[in-house]
Amino acid sequence: MDNPGEAGHPQSGLLAVRVLAMPADTNPAGDIFGGWLMSQVDIAGSILAVQLARGRVATVAVHDFQFIKPVLVGDLVSCYAEVERKGRTSVRIKVEVFTERDRDPDSVSKVASASLTFVAVDERSRPREIPA
Ligand SMILES: CC(C)(COP(=O)(O)OP(=O)(O)OC[C@H]1O[C@@H](n2cnc3c(N)ncnc32)[C@H](O)[C@@H]1OP(=O)(O)O)[C@@H](O)C(=O)NCCC(=O)NCCS
Repeated sequence: MDNPGEAGHPQSGLLAVRVLAMPADTNPAGDIFGGWLMSQVDIAGSILAVQLARGRVATVAVHDFQFIKPVLVGDLVSCYAEVERKGRTSVRIKVEVFTERDRDPDSVSKVASASLTFVAVDERSRPREIPA
């Protein structure tokens, strides 16, 4: 997902979350709270993981979360998810976050990235094999 596509968005990966950053999501300094962004990344990764696992998953680890640029109120936030590695019961998913400011496609830039490991779980929350 490193090659920017049209208007700066990546050329690959599932657009799993697209959301407007709202005033309620700010930190005391008025920028968007990092924890809110982490939550969007977790949601984005889980959407792809659930698709792959064809059912419930649990986030077991977050690796290498990087905040590259601040997110501001009113930014359109897009999270792209892509499978990095599939194991027996777990899958590692890379999520990259881009913002668009003032509805200007030329303003698109990458603001964060992370990899997350999800484990497919059964109804008793025990690991289960991911279907082929
Ligand atoms: C997910 C959970 C059921 C896994 O149980 P577990 O006893 O660790 O299971 P296992 O040791 O069999 O590992 C399962 C898979 O996860 C992987 N895994 C476990 N811990 C990991 C970690 N810290 N980082 C990366 N992968 C990990 C294992 O390598 C294995 O993958 P594989 O089958 O593809 O080889 C358990 O850890 C759990 O319930 N965690 C809490 C999840 C949760 O509540 N998340 C939300 C937080 S708010």
